[in-house]
Amino acid sequence: MQRLSDRHVVVGVTGSIAAYRACDVVRELRAQGATVRVAPTKGAQAFVTPLTFEALSGQPCLLTSLEVHAGLIPHVEEAYRAAAVVVAPASADAIAKMAAGFADEAILSLLLSFQGPVIVAPAMETHMWSHPATQHNIATLRARGVVIVDPDEGPLASGRTGRGRLAPVARIIETVLRATTPATLLGRRLLVTAGPTVEDIDPARSITNRSSGTMGVMVARALALRGADVELVHGPMRAAVPATPGISLHPVRSADQMAKRCFAIVDDHRSIDAAIMAAAVADFTPASKAPGKLKKQDGPPAIALVSTTDILATLGARRDRRYALVGFAAETSAIEAAAAEKRQRKGCDVVIGNDVGASNTGFDVNTNRLYVARDAARAASGWTVLMSKEACAEVVADELVGLLAAR
Ligand SMILES: Cc1cc2nc3c(=O)[nH]c(=O)nc-3n(C[C@H](O)[C@H](O)[C@H](O)COP(=O)(O)O)c2cc1C
Repeated sequence: MQRLSDRHVVVGVTGSIAAYRACDVVRELRAQGATVRVAPTKGAQAFVTPLTFEALSGQPCLLTSLEVHAGLIPHVEEAYRAAAVVVAPASADAIAKMAAGFADEAILSLLLSFQGPVIVAPAMETHMWSHPATQHNIATLRARGVVIVDPDEGPLASGRTGRGRLAPVARIIETVLRATTPATLLGRRLLVTAGPTVEDIDPARSITNRSSGTMGVMVARALALRGADVELVHGPMRAAVPATPGISLHPVRSADQMAKRCFAIVDDHRSIDAAIMAAAVADFTPASKAPGKLKKQDGPPAIALVSTTDILATLGARRDRRYALVGFAAETSAIEAAAAEKRQRKGCDVVIGNDVGASNTGFDVNTNRLYVARDAARAASGWTVLMSKEACAEVVADELVGLLAAR
């Protein structure tokens, strides 16, 4: 799914050793469907030539603010055209100039003419970053609404270690996507669960299920891109955790740990607006975990199982409930009836049913088809078409926006 189709993004590159990583920023923005124009400063051009950026972006670079083309001033036209401007990497010098409103480079003039979202990813030696002058300039930019992608800690170009490394490209791209997605869930705090749980039999063996965590992770990302603060409680997953700002991770292992973590989040001083429970939580767990590895020569063990806490039903039954509740139902037959029945029984506003028995939906595939079981008093229930799990996550996010608006 390309999230920047028909959007134009200007990438400012400044005089940092990390300038070469701007090449990947340009590539990833284009992979999202954006048209990209690069504006490297003179400092940046000492590290990476405009030729490289022109080849990667497919457009001439903006090299100076002192030019006119066919009666138009390019840096002003670009400022009107762009959906977002990202400065990556941003040197200490460029940050100081941005804070003070200098206009002696094309990117600086463009930024003064630009009224949309600005994303700045600093990169510099650790003492340059922690210097009060830089921190003051960063605070000035933040106060102006500029989104700062904080630098990472790690090895620096000087051979020393500290904070100052350019943030990973994935985090920069996710920040651009969040800044350019309509913030229909801004200010909302949401609990999302994802992945399987693992129930231990002994120190070496466990019972789990086939959930990869993909659907829950994509839902968490779709919600965070719309501006929500997402608490993502997840079991051990194969799905990669997205670098989207706004997602806080809560890794757990067992159903019991997942239940305790979810209840702690719901009960903490900041209330949640909704819980979206996409994890495949184990229904049963061994009554006790053997302290040592069970021996093969002792023969097959009889493993007594007990029921786990039903997290969804517990959240649905709370009398003090002020949040919307969305459940997921993994079924292999009679999906509509099962989802509708589960919605009622567990006190959910919506249950999303999906077929985990088919070859192109459910576990281990990147496509899905959802049955959205709703309260008939609000809207009719129905199936989506078969689509990517990323597109399915957008359906769930749309559903949640509607649910929260109706409350
Ligand atoms: C090898 C080398 C690496 C540098 N890396 C950085 C850096 O990562 N961040 C930074 O703020 N300045 C760095 N500098 C210093 C800047 O290049 C210098 O301040 C320059 O004037 C910045 O120009 P600009 O405004 O185009 O960014 C580096 C200098 C050298 C020689």
